[in-house]
Amino acid sequence: MTEPILSARGVSKRFGGVQALKDVSFDLYPGEVLALAGDNGAGKSTLIKAISGVHHPEEGSITFDGRDLSGLLPGAVRDLGIETIYQDLALADNLDVGLNLFLGREIVRHLLGFLPVLDRTKMRTESAAILQNLGIRVPDPTLPVGNLSGGQRQAIAISRAIYWNARLLIMDEPTAALGVPEQRLVRDLIIRLRERQVAIIYISHNLNDIFAVSDRILVLERGRKAGERKASETDDNEVVKLMMGSA
Ligand SMILES: Nc1ncnc2c1ncn2[C@@H]1O[C@H](COP(=O)(O)OP(=O)(O)OP(=O)(O)O)[C@@H](O)[C@H]1O
Ligand SMILES: [Mg+2]
Repeated sequence: MTEPILSARGVSKRFGGVQALKDVSFDLYPGEVLALAGDNGAGKSTLIKAISGVHHPEEGSITFDGRDLSGLLPGAVRDLGIETIYQDLALADNLDVGLNLFLGREIVRHLLGFLPVLDRTKMRTESAAILQNLGIRVPDPTLPVGNLSGGQRQAIAISRAIYWNARLLIMDEPTAALGVPEQRLVRDLIIRLRERQVAIIYISHNLNDIFAVSDRILVLERGRKAGERKASETDDNEVVKLMMGSA
């Protein structure tokens, strides 16, 4: 068996009086899609933020590719190959598609051989190529992404992860508020990423989505791991019971 790409052991995180995560452990393997399920406030977003470097757990450890992530800030985690798409989409609304794909890693050219300026043309050409490659249609890639639909925005966030060769992609509610064709586009992208051996953590409230894309389902209930099942060995009823703490 291959080694896990990500391992969490005994992760606990508290916010004041709220125990957001309590002793959570799990493994994730390359090319595997793990769904995180749980009621509102169960700790799903906190768990992925503990991986992506936004939150720092008081207890436990998280390792990625054998490397301890503790203390790393989000930029450093991203540089290791973990790309996160947050519930509140981390795109800059006022920038165009190309600039969003290169956000934080802009291509720079040098005027007169030394004055650094953004190479917008190169970023636009590169981003048009990758979107085309992924079958994502955007009416005008030079428009600010604030003008795009939810699905198009989601697709751009996913393409960013692909372009930068993420080895772990984390998605918090990627299909919430998407139309049906757009949900399908996101699902297709997930399946393609899995084929490329990218590991994926997928948070959703939608059990249809969860069963459509995931290999394994980890259920959180009030910060604790209520259970973990292979998607092929469980069903809606059991997952809902685990979510309710009544399994
Ligand atoms: N930054 C924060 N400060 C204080 N409390 C927080 C913070 N983030 C989360 N919490 C609390 O931690 C608990 C877990 O929250 P979290 O956002 O992880 O839940 P969730 O499972 O993602 O829920 P949802 O499905 O509604 O997105 C909740 O009780 C929440 O109020
Ligand atoms: Mg959340």
